[in-house]
Amino acid sequence: MNYFRKCDCNSLNKYINKYIYIYGWIDDKRYINNNCYFIEIRDFYGKIQINFNKKNINNNSIFYILKKIKNESCVKIYGFLKNRPIDKINYEKLNGDLEIIATNILVINYSDEIPININNFSEKNKLKFRYLYLRKNLNLIKIRSYITYEIHKFMNKNKFINIETPILSKYLPEGARNYIVNSRIYENKYYSLSQSPQIFKQILMMSGVNKYYQIARCFRNEDLRSDRQPEFTQLDIEVSFLKSNYIIYISEKLIKFLFKKINNINIEKIKKIKFKDSIIKYGTDKPDLRNFIELFYINEIFRINKDINKFINKKIFNKKNKIISFFNLPNININYYKILENFNFKNINFFITNKNKISKFLNKIFNNLFKLNLLKINNNTKYDIFIILIGDKDEIYKNLLNIRNSLFKEIKMYINNVKTSLIWITNFPMFKEVNNKIECNHHPFTLPKTINNIYNINNKKKILSILSNSYDLVLNGFEIASGSERINNKNIQNTIFDIINVNKNNEFNFFLEALKYGTPNHSGIAFGLDRLIMLLNNLDNIKEIIPFPKTSSFKDIMTDSPNKIF
Ligand code: AMO
Repeated sequence: MNYFRKCDCNSLNKYINKYIYIYGWIDDKRYINNNCYFIEIRDFYGKIQINFNKKNINNNSIFYILKKIKNESCVKIYGFLKNRPIDKINYEKLNGDLEIIATNILVINYSDEIPININNFSEKNKLKFRYLYLRKNLNLIKIRSYITYEIHKFMNKNKFINIETPILSKYLPEGARNYIVNSRIYENKYYSLSQSPQIFKQILMMSGVNKYYQIARCFRNEDLRSDRQPEFTQLDIEVSFLKSNYIIYISEKLIKFLFKKINNINIEKIKKIKFKDSIIKYGTDKPDLRNFIELFYINEIFRINKDINKFINKKIFNKKNKIISFFNLPNININYYKILENFNFKNINFFITNKNKISKFLNKIFNNLFKLNLLKINNNTKYDIFIILIGDKDEIYKNLLNIRNSLFKEIKMYINNVKTSLIWITNFPMFKEVNNKIECNHHPFTLPKTINNIYNINNKKKILSILSNSYDLVLNGFEIASGSERINNKNIQNTIFDIINVNKNNEFNFFLEALKYGTPNHSGIAFGLDRLIMLLNNLDNIKEIIPFPKTSSFKDIMTDSPNKIF
């Protein structure tokens, strides 16, 4: 019958009281009696109820099909679309006010009995039967597509141009481990899969590009972590003749734009904290400031005060590496003592005191800290409990993140806290020591803050004290972006390669060569797009927003890879 119109679950409203046909999968089948079946059809956009009734269908074979057909079979339904009777409307559902009075069904493909419970997927089955999982859960994939589209629009509006860089690239010791790819033509020679477009985006700056961006696939043969995938996507950015302040400006503009567009949240100016301060206040360089508990150091104040002996044993201060510090916590019904006791500290004494009970001297200190706005009061709860920690600095730093997390876990039920935590971490050390070897904290193309010190190659202490012009953006405790100003001078670059000992095989000669011919100063950043989309959707599992992720042991259990190749 040619008067049937093609529909989908998103366009049904236009076709009420018309004959239509629709494609989809059987989401649910309800047998009412031999003369009547209700079927729910699901397509890319949603669901619609189909009413099969012998009153309207004069064909027994259709009822034979309905009897044997299983959920997830793929079908085409013909019928008359109409409003449901008022008392049958489901206001909660898209198309809950409509139904199709079926006239025919065409089976495109019968589904076998589904071997798993698809109304409650286990983590394993979400990956093994990915097509079934996605069929029912395409929402996040649609959101991902929308966010990516908005990012392209934003970047183009801000005059960035989109350039692709090679995925098959040279094996280079840039930081993370690489996946290696055989070259069939050149025996014993290899490519590696690009772990980021870093080298190429810098070469684009040398090639005269002004503002580059790319939504780039990256591949890293790394250790497992819940927020990592071996194959992931970056929003990669590089600009010439501009410094970190521009990168920070454009990144914040993007973040504000996305939060407003996706979540209707206004983001304030994002604060910066130095790496060192972040470690000593929060015990991590990825602080989640929704947990507002921070450690305050009051060594100096105690050292200069004679009153000190009344409070604690003076000897403790005179020993090296001892610190005195405190947390400021709300006065609520929580057994702080018990939480801290669980840590079984070796060289830390702690005690808990109420503001009213402490000495006049301490009271004065705390009042000053309040005045200076160092101690914050987030709501009406009184923040007048102090946990004072005295002891081994390293042990305090080592446990700090866990202590904060354990305390906050209990506190957060009692307070209204902010929903979004964003912070820039700056002034990272340029290098770190791993197994007696010097490595770069970010990557070797990062511009050090104090150039002179890099020439003291053999003075480890000096080398390790060098800071870099780099910055990380941390959202709710996840590093979502990382970038830096770059080296554009051949000698500095060469020296950095010497310090981390990668010059021996001349792998970077091509890059040092390129640096010889008038390289502009340039800076950049890369956002972890998967992490960003995950957090914009209030999720903490990166797999949810990747169409075909690997397991946390880096396997694809749907296709069974990696596999042996025969
Ligand atoms: P970096 O290595 O810090 O910097 O990566 C940038 C951002 O990418 C995300 N990310 C990951 N996401 C998921 N799975 C992974 N395995 C993974 N590894 C990193 C993080 C991280 O902040 N070329 C430099 C950037 C630059 O300097 O411009 C780079 O790749 O969110």
